[in-house]
Amino acid sequence: MTSATTDLDSTAGSVPATYSPDAAFIASANADGALYERAASDQLGFWADQARRLQWDQPWTQVLDWSDAPVAKWFIDGKLNVAYNCVDRHVIDGHGEQVAIHWEGEPGDSRDITYSELLAEVSRAANYLTELGMRAGDRVAIYMPMVPEAIVSMLACARLGLTHSVVFAGFSPTALRQRVDDAEARLVITTDGQWRRGAAAPLKAAVDEALDGAPSSVEHVLVVRRTNIDVLWTEGRDLWWHDTVTDASPDHQAQGFDAEHPLFILYTSGTTGKPKGILHTTGGYLTQASYTHHNVFDHKAGHDVYWCTADIGWVTGHSYIVYGPLSNRATQVVYEGTPNSPDEHRHFEIIEKYGVTIYYTAPTLVRTFMKWGRQIPDAHNLSSLRLLGSVGEPINPEAWRWYRDVIGGNRTPIVDTWWQTETGAIMISPLPGVTATKPGAAMAPLPGISAKIVDDEGTELDSGRSGLLVLDQPWPSMLRGIWNDMDRFRETYWDRFAAAGWYFAGDGAKLDTDGDLWILGRVDDVMNVSGHRISTAEVESALVGHAGVAEAAVVGASDDTTGQAIVAFVILTADTAASGRLQVARNSADNTGAALIAELKAEVSREISPIARPREIHIVPELPKTRSGKIMRRLLRDVAEGRELGDTSTLVDPKVFETIARG
Ligand code: PRX
Repeated sequence: MTSATTDLDSTAGSVPATYSPDAAFIASANADGALYERAASDQLGFWADQARRLQWDQPWTQVLDWSDAPVAKWFIDGKLNVAYNCVDRHVIDGHGEQVAIHWEGEPGDSRDITYSELLAEVSRAANYLTELGMRAGDRVAIYMPMVPEAIVSMLACARLGLTHSVVFAGFSPTALRQRVDDAEARLVITTDGQWRRGAAAPLKAAVDEALDGAPSSVEHVLVVRRTNIDVLWTEGRDLWWHDTVTDASPDHQAQGFDAEHPLFILYTSGTTGKPKGILHTTGGYLTQASYTHHNVFDHKAGHDVYWCTADIGWVTGHSYIVYGPLSNRATQVVYEGTPNSPDEHRHFEIIEKYGVTIYYTAPTLVRTFMKWGRQIPDAHNLSSLRLLGSVGEPINPEAWRWYRDVIGGNRTPIVDTWWQTETGAIMISPLPGVTATKPGAAMAPLPGISAKIVDDEGTELDSGRSGLLVLDQPWPSMLRGIWNDMDRFRETYWDRFAAAGWYFAGDGAKLDTDGDLWILGRVDDVMNVSGHRISTAEVESALVGHAGVAEAAVVGASDDTTGQAIVAFVILTADTAASGRLQVARNSADNTGAALIAELKAEVSREISPIARPREIHIVPELPKTRSGKIMRRLLRDVAEGRELGDTSTLVDPKVFETIARG
């Protein structure tokens, strides 16, 4: 794994099979091989070293308490303030004039925010939230696009010990309401609207819709003006940010919170229709987010210009836009919009404009860039880049090579980082300057992390055999539970290998003959579309919510760009079928059939989010089921991907596929 040579793959001519770090990179890298040795010889001592990179108000008395497994406690008795660690201490250390955020708005406006300015903004927000009566432990929902105030809001919550629940601004009012109710949020922070491909789209209106109807726990809605779009106003409940936070005092004294104080809840899709509120706490989370950002991205404070293209609505935005980078005094780009607004050059223009050195994105975007063609990045000077990262889904070797050659000028190391909302921070990844990487492989658990690949019985597998990925040791940034549902927490992650006490990640993986680790994707009913997790059950429930649909089955089928795409099979209600719409729906040339399918796609967008919109919907007379009534998704995936059908012997009616094929 650490060989210094570049091997040539004998079957692929001159294409290197591995890419070794070059001497200059090795010489200045943050990480070295000794990290692995230190962690292996004294794992808890190693994590204590990493925790010491932070400023603690009160030291811990014990590194790990695992006696209440699977709920871990890290850094017992320690106290720290996350916002102080991400902002104040850099100003106190004399770096107040360093830019923290180069913010680039979609319409072309921009703002540079220094650490001193960020401190003043976060303090104002903290003072105003205190004035509103918010107290440590209260929950705040943040439903915002990528504007600086979103980051300020997260940090203000962290500063006050308020537990934030960021809800992706692309989610529907129904999805927002579900999350607000589950966490019993007292406050929602939002914007009037958001810029999307040159147009202002309403956002506060979605909050109004979410809060309409049954009374909710929400007392106030704090609104940042972003687009000037018209908004309806509920007096007494709604508050403008510029009338309140902006006028608050820029001085605020941060207090330390217990290392296990809840920092945030982030909802993610599981295998049922109800999203899981993944709970993260303070000390262990920040320790690992900070450690991984420092070593995996080889980040050098004051020199690098770092850009993670995620949205704060996902865990990548939490750990690698907010907490990891800011704890390490990063100067980073935050971009509000889409990569093709106003045209496909946008990301490359931003890289040139700010001299971005570290760029972290998802394979879907790399494949989209490939589709647009290399002439686009080739038109720009991307020589500032020195490291590239990938996250969210498996990166196919072809996309990996293209990323390195075309974006990275055949120079930059690539870190393919595996982790999850639940793990809080990166778990499996190469270390730049140490690891000789292989296109498509996540390579190895980071120092301090332990993983195994096992079969259904928990037996460790030999290299070359695919199995289930488990994490066999606790780690500092691990989830501490599912909000309001600790039974589900145990069932989902711990019951499968309860005797061994392992965390089951839900992913398949294998080790190759060199012992390097490859992630193979989900083994459960969770789809991964453009790096976003969506459960089949959620989409099915949105489809059956349409009056015309009696039953639905959804699968993730492989897609050249988005990794997976959603393919739905629906049975119409007798009424709808009898009305003649079924007949016409079967005939794709007929507008009425297409209209019904379009209506169903729109329903899913509206109910969940445009990211959950199915690529295809097939109207079928029957679904393949086992005798116990379970839908055989594996077979539907075969149909969706145009493959020969797998074993159909357990079906009640193996002939069902003749009718599905006709559908
Ligand atoms: O299936 C794995 C995939 O994304 C899942 C986690 O999704 P989420 O909680 O939304 O977090 C995404 C960002 C960390 C995993 O179970 N995944 C994530 N990173 C990779 C990956 N699959 C392959 N390679 C990766 N690098």
